[in-house]
Amino acid sequence: MLLLTSEFSAMDIVADIQDLYKDNKWREIVARYHDHPERNKVLWVYPSEENFIFVKDCLAELLCDRIVSIGCGSGLLEWMITEATGVPVSGIEVDGAWWSCKYAPPNFIPLHITPTDIDKETISIIQRNKNAALLFCYFNNRKAFEDYLKYYNGNVLIIIGPHEKGVHTDPKPFNDVTDTWTIYKYQEIRNSGDFIVVYKKQNV
Ligand SMILES: C[S@@+](CC[C@H](N)C(=O)[O-])C[C@H]1O[C@@H](n2cnc3c(N)ncnc32)[C@H](O)[C@@H]1O
Repeated sequence: MLLLTSEFSAMDIVADIQDLYKDNKWREIVARYHDHPERNKVLWVYPSEENFIFVKDCLAELLCDRIVSIGCGSGLLEWMITEATGVPVSGIEVDGAWWSCKYAPPNFIPLHITPTDIDKETISIIQRNKNAALLFCYFNNRKAFEDYLKYYNGNVLIIIGPHEKGVHTDPKPFNDVTDTWTIYKYQEIRNSGDFIVVYKKQNV
């Protein structure tokens, strides 16, 4: 089979990340790939140790003991969060051709696959534990975002995404949620222009 150069390099990244994952070397994954030109093939952000501690501290302060990540993609971020903080993270992805396509990245956590229109099983996952924070990283689907928030009955929302760097996400990390949510704390991921923004429900 003839492979293009870009296919070779993407496969190398994926294979190397898989090897590091098998050896539980999340720090090495971040160190090697946080500014790699093909990093988005597997994950959009590669938080530093300080960023993971920030997430862990926010969750502890807001009495959250787990995360449900919507649109988790490969689940690499979710796996790294658990490795770095000890906080369990479940991942939800939408059903579609991409996840069964041969170029799809591997999964680093088990995925719950949901239909485009949120179903009962997915709703039960996001409502199962009131102490779970809801995470959206580089999410890009406003209608689905609003649907998930409609059913989420917890108090903590985390949005990770680009701020003023010419990349589109929906929601954006800042100034893109209703008044129900107020910013609790935020931190930049290294100096990438990507931000982790932790919101809490008003009056909580
Ligand atoms: C830009 S990707 C980000 C993936 C991953 N969070 C990351 O940072 O690498 C956005 C993801 O949201 C997923 N998505 C879109 N609509 C969704 C929905 N209704 N429910 C769950 N996931 C959805 C897409 O399939 C895609 O994997």
